[in-house]
Amino acid sequence: MRSSTRSAVDPFIVMDVMQAASAAEAAGRHIIHMEVGQPGTGAPQGAVAALGQAMEQGALGYTVALGLPALRARIAQMYGDWYNVDLDPGRVVITPGSSGAFILAFTALFDTGDRVGIGAPGYPSYRQILKALALQPVDLPTSPQNRYQPVPADFSGMDLAGLMVASPANPTGTMLDRDAIAALVGACDAAGTSFISDEIYHGIEYDKKAVTALEVTDDCYVINSFSKYFSMTGWRVGWMVVPEDHVRVIERIAQNMFICAPHASQIAALAAMECDGELQGNMDVYRANRALMLEGLIEAGFTKIAPPDGAFYVYADVSDLTSDSRSFAAEILEKAGVSVTPGLDFDPARGLSTLRFSYARSTADIAEGLARLKAFMAAR
Ligand SMILES: Cc1ncc(COP(=O)(O)O)c(C=O)c1O
Repeated sequence: MRSSTRSAVDPFIVMDVMQAASAAEAAGRHIIHMEVGQPGTGAPQGAVAALGQAMEQGALGYTVALGLPALRARIAQMYGDWYNVDLDPGRVVITPGSSGAFILAFTALFDTGDRVGIGAPGYPSYRQILKALALQPVDLPTSPQNRYQPVPADFSGMDLAGLMVASPANPTGTMLDRDAIAALVGACDAAGTSFISDEIYHGIEYDKKAVTALEVTDDCYVINSFSKYFSMTGWRVGWMVVPEDHVRVIERIAQNMFICAPHASQIAALAAMECDGELQGNMDVYRANRALMLEGLIEAGFTKIAPPDGAFYVYADVSDLTSDSRSFAAEILEKAGVSVTPGLDFDPARGLSTLRFSYARSTADIAEGLARLKAFMAAR
């Protein structure tokens, strides 16, 4: 049977790495997982309990396409609590994860062939989803001096229909401050470029609170999710905040593409928003892990790293250690029993000289992983 050209997207290399790690585990080896981009913890207890109750009481059929009104209202309230932003709940759309939100956003904003700028390194699926929707991802190589975040000069005169940014970013964990967001928004406004802000790692931040693009402008799309801070990856529930006059556009697409985000997950998500105690407990673990990583990686010999502002990753420049991060990651898995992600997923042009280390798992795992990495590097 024929297949479309736009379906020829690249695989997610981290998934291949996870596959290799699980094959090693099936063969009886103990592997420390520093490749995974998800919390080691499950959904908060309160979320699970709320779903249990709801399952006893009702059928959990479809919800309306924009999501449960109570959840949309609670998310709007969170913008007041977290950022002092007064947000109309009517602008909040519940989505099947932030991944579902990207599909809705890109479909609502762009026409076939439109060019959309994405920072490199960046989350790989932006590029692949854009390609699958017959849009053109335009890699914007960012510099270490700008902490791997795009700045207006990176896309000036490029005729982009959209710009996608993430703060805190995956894989670097760096954030855009208010001035940096304002500069990007200003440049996008002037060029007629739609601004999309992926804020999925908000809540997982260390020294400073992350800034939402909504503090700077209402004329943007903000995408977020229950996957990371709320520790609910497999529940597939996220949200998007869109300009008022885009709500109906999104509603029509969502009705047809997804009908709704999973009802059960929406109920659990609403309850998760009242579980700050448990979620802050997760944050204590990330904080301890981050401190161990920053010290331990340098001691092991991964010296070209920068402290992440948020998320749970350290992105290391390993150009002094290898010219092929893929085979280096395979060697680390084979000899040290630690699974890490080669940078190629995030930066097709420069990723052969970078690795991403995730510290989302337990502190005991991180300590063991670092000990193994030190022994591996010392024997190299
Ligand atoms: C920056 C970024 N955005 C979006 C996603 C997708 O998250 P989800 O679809 O689970 O909300 C991820 C997952 O790792 C990510 O790192």
